[in-house]
Amino acid sequence: MSGPNTNYDPVEVAALAPEAVEQAVTDALTAVAAATTLEELKSARLAHAGERSPLALANREIGALPPSARAEAGKRVGQARGRVNQALAARQAELEAERDERILVEEALDLTAVPGRRPLGRRHVLTVTAERMADVMVGMGWEIAEGPGVEAEWFNFDALNFDKDHPARQMQDTFFVEPADAGLVLRTHTSPVQARSLLERGVPLYVAVPGKTFRTDELDATHTPVFHQMEGLAIDEGLTMAHLKGTLDRLAEGMFGPGITSRLRPSFFPFTEPSAEMDFRCFVCQGQDPGCRTCGGTGWIEWGGCGMVHHNVLRACGVDPERYQGFAFGMGVERTAMFRHGVSDMRELIEGDVRFNAQFGMEI
Ligand code: PHE
Repeated sequence: MSGPNTNYDPVEVAALAPEAVEQAVTDALTAVAAATTLEELKSARLAHAGERSPLALANREIGALPPSARAEAGKRVGQARGRVNQALAARQAELEAERDERILVEEALDLTAVPGRRPLGRRHVLTVTAERMADVMVGMGWEIAEGPGVEAEWFNFDALNFDKDHPARQMQDTFFVEPADAGLVLRTHTSPVQARSLLERGVPLYVAVPGKTFRTDELDATHTPVFHQMEGLAIDEGLTMAHLKGTLDRLAEGMFGPGITSRLRPSFFPFTEPSAEMDFRCFVCQGQDPGCRTCGGTGWIEWGGCGMVHHNVLRACGVDPERYQGFAFGMGVERTAMFRHGVSDMRELIEGDVRFNAQFGMEI
């Protein structure tokens, strides 16, 4: 850029030529119209109205014109810049309005929305069922006892009057723990805790034993190799089967409601004599509906085994059978939970689908 030069004709300064100025305005207006975001408009402003834009550069040339030509050139460039600035301001307003509208939609707050609750974990239906069974027993003054899942063969079988080659040993489908001579099994029932409790706690004794048990069953709708039982053992002076029946009736009522009692059918277990299978009254039809789907029309639902504790078991545990007698029972927790909650497939209990679990987990 040079100082005033009286010889300059504005029309001959290329940047100030009307066509050049008009072109610069056209370019600017095109760029402004093409800008679809505030970012793009910012670039357009820099390119067409910034310090290094064609119009700004042209403006600087005005000083180099002879004074007589400055007014006209100044007016031309000034108007051109005015048009560009107006277009910029208008587009700026449009784009800001668009942005504000979009934000109102995109960032809308639904003040009526319920805030997301933190999902609460639930206890498994088997846990809840076993705890309720234990609670009913505790309510009758019994204690809770527990024993190991990996159990000595002696406690699982020998102490319970199973002969070495008693078929019942095979009947129980036992998982033996290696090495073969270790004498260890995965307990096939909670009954070994009968012997453990007698040895540890002595008599008189009233214990309920919830726990995991194992048998070599294939997993299907009614079997699982890992399941749960609840055992009951009462040893005292003068206990009879009437006490057993009364206890089972209270437990059945505690689990299935008032009036739901139990019945006994003759059976066999090596560790009880006499032995019985126990059923509970169908709580759906109360024995009134031959077409009932819950009990198959029999009016009763199988629950487990029970009986008067065999004197050989008492002797093996150092208890004098002449003075002390008692009864024992053991039932499946899975069956109890399934009938209580209408679960027809045992696999649902162990698959761990939270949608299944979420239906339970709370009990008052
Ligand atoms: N332990 C037996 C079973 O698992 C049930 C039972 C328990 C029977 C106590 C009699 C007494 O089948």
